[in-house]
Amino acid sequence: MSQFLAADVVVMGAPLYNFSIPSQLKAWIDRVVQVDRTFKYTDKGPIGLAGGKTIIVASTRGGMYSTSDAGNAMEHQESYLKTVFGFLGVTDVRIVRAEGLAMGEAAKAAALAAAHAEIPAQTHNAANQ
Ligand SMILES: Cc1cc2nc3c(=O)[nH]c(=O)nc-3n(C[C@H](O)[C@H](O)[C@H](O)COP(=O)(O)O)c2cc1C
Repeated sequence: MSQFLAADVVVMGAPLYNFSIPSQLKAWIDRVVQVDRTFKYTDKGPIGLAGGKTIIVASTRGGMYSTSDAGNAMEHQESYLKTVFGFLGVTDVRIVRAEGLAMGEAAKAAALAAAHAEIPAQTHNAANQ
């Protein structure tokens, strides 16, 4: 919690597990999301108290989800992370994605190469550093 609040940049690995995030990552989020610490309720609704930082998510998936509406509707990993960190006031959530990792060696190699190529753009000016 304190480390999260103090950080300018947070990098996390988030594999897709059964259309969502691993239970270990969920357990960490359940400790970080605390009323009057990382968010609070006001007359105008909830506001985040953890803004001003950059979160970089290394997102991995066995299958393909980003290339179809049906796939995007099924995944509750990247969409969930954007929602929960947005709720905490973090608007700068960046995704480095490797998907299709279980769809054969060629698909895996292509996905990893594409993800590596994305890293410079997704880490540039993190938290305006
Ligand atoms: C318990 C479990 C559930 C998983 N569920 C999904 C899933 O719903 N969709 C998917 O595309 N991949 C799923 N995977 C595959 C992981 O996303 C994949 O293993 C992960 O991205 C990391 O890749 P790696 O195994 O090559 O390290 C699952 C893997 C495990 C272990």
